[in-house]
Amino acid sequence: MSTNSYTQDELKALVGQAALQYVVPGEIVGVGTGSTVNKFIDALASLRDRIPGAVSSSEASTERLKALGIPVLDANQVDSLSVYIDGADEIDGRGHMIKGGGAALTREKIVASLSRRFVCIADESKKVPVLGGFPLPVEVIPMAAQRIIRQFAALGGQGSVRLKDGQPLVTDNNQWIVDVRGLKIADPLAFESEVNQWPGVVTVGVFAHQKAAVCLLGTPRGVETIEY
Ligand code: 5RP
Repeated sequence: MSTNSYTQDELKALVGQAALQYVVPGEIVGVGTGSTVNKFIDALASLRDRIPGAVSSSEASTERLKALGIPVLDANQVDSLSVYIDGADEIDGRGHMIKGGGAALTREKIVASLSRRFVCIADESKKVPVLGGFPLPVEVIPMAAQRIIRQFAALGGQGSVRLKDGQPLVTDNNQWIVDVRGLKIADPLAFESEVNQWPGVVTVGVFAHQKAAVCLLGTPRGVETIEY
């Protein structure tokens, strides 16, 4: 089998382009957030006359979509989406993901939950046997941050509030992000359900209930399609 030496940026562009095949003409598309999705948004501009628009998962993606002439609709204007296309920080062998490296996890989970099919686009570095190597992002109500960090410590995780310019990073929803290192998430469904119950947790960055149906994985051999 022949292999190529793509840069990580080229792999992101390859999967972003490949995701166009899942966009249904005449239908609104759900759009995620991140550097891989930015490649998808750029590619989506070629289809802008064939779709009514997009539902976006962040202010950053909204800005990029609008700059390319793609209308952005409010999530409350749609009942359901045929497809949601987004990246991941990690994806396991069953399509469970860690997301939120770009702090957009809450809106990402909302748009994913509106969609019938989650198409994950990622380069090969994101594929893992067990979730937890990437620090787990959790969006929290600020007054609960330290208590939530103590709850993660009891599970063996080391949490810290994500900072930007020395201050807590404030999300699009005016909340904070706690990043948790040192977890091994063997049962992502049970883990997501449990952490979702903790007071002050807005969204945990494990996407097991909203897992990927398909992953387009950028590899030196080209784009591999994995179905779960
Ligand atoms: C943003 C996310 C992104 O999908 C994730 O961080 C992957 O980003 P990138 O494509 O830049 O590696 O969850 O909140």
